[in-house]
Amino acid sequence: MTEQVTLQVLAEHWDAPFERSAQDAAIAALEEGRVIVLPRLAFALAPAEAGLLSAGALDETRKNISADPATGVVHGTALAGAELAALTAMMTRFRGQAETLVRQLLPGYAGALSTARTSFRPAEIAGRETAPRKDDKRLHVDAFPTRPMRGRRILRVFSNIAMDGTKRVWRVGEPFPAFAQKFLPRVRPGFAGQAALMERLGLTKGRRAPYDFLMLGLHDAAKLDNDYQSGAPAAELTFPPGTTWMCFTDAVLHAAMAGRCALEQTFHIPVEAMASPERAPLRVLESLTGRVLA
Ligand code: SIN
Ligand code: FE
Repeated sequence: MTEQVTLQVLAEHWDAPFERSAQDAAIAALEEGRVIVLPRLAFALAPAEAGLLSAGALDETRKNISADPATGVVHGTALAGAELAALTAMMTRFRGQAETLVRQLLPGYAGALSTARTSFRPAEIAGRETAPRKDDKRLHVDAFPTRPMRGRRILRVFSNIAMDGTKRVWRVGEPFPAFAQKFLPRVRPGFAGQAALMERLGLTKGRRAPYDFLMLGLHDAAKLDNDYQSGAPAAELTFPPGTTWMCFTDAVLHAAMAGRCALEQTFHIPVEAMASPERAPLRVLESLTGRVLA
């Protein structure tokens, strides 16, 4: 099953050029819901950065450190002074390299690409206890309560930067249309006026569309279904240190089972920029519900 869910790309440099055929294959793979794996593309750490990889960089109340590209401000870290500067520099460099890679490999998205947050995930995942709804060890599609997407795609680039050989382990589940068909009947849309109210109360950054309610419902329904979690078809993917990978996490059912020290860069892409817009979760859900959702 691993071959069906991944596409290997053997680039060794973040700014490597790609043939048109490789670019087309990459876009097709992503839009079909596969994970692009770049086993030879490592994120190189500067000497001053090696010390940042202990989970001590993390504010104890958070699971990730994140950086806002608009302000450059880093949230969720206990570090200060020179260490905070080194952390900020590392995350900024990762963002730049991830952006270069996406523009080279996926030029069809370049004109419409919006660069969102960067995250650093130092803490070990295995053994971490969290409420089921927040537990990323459970298969889910990404949808975030405070950040309405209104149909836009979530493309994420990850890199394993652990220095002790720790692999990151994912499970990847069934294709989105099959998943959505199964779970949609259990999902409730928001009540009338809920999106406007939540926006006014500052609970969401911008207004949720009906799409966002359905995606959050699918996210929660999958995570809360113990039978689905243990019985659903899933492939295990392992990403050793020095590996980079990317996928549309709003459509790829994924669970992060183990690993520490990953960097991640999020991009948002409008449905219209896709080669096959009908594969977007927005269009799949619109066709299942017969409604306009964003
Ligand atoms: C997730 O998006 O669910 C977590 C992925 C990871 O940190 O590897
Ligand atoms: Fe996720």
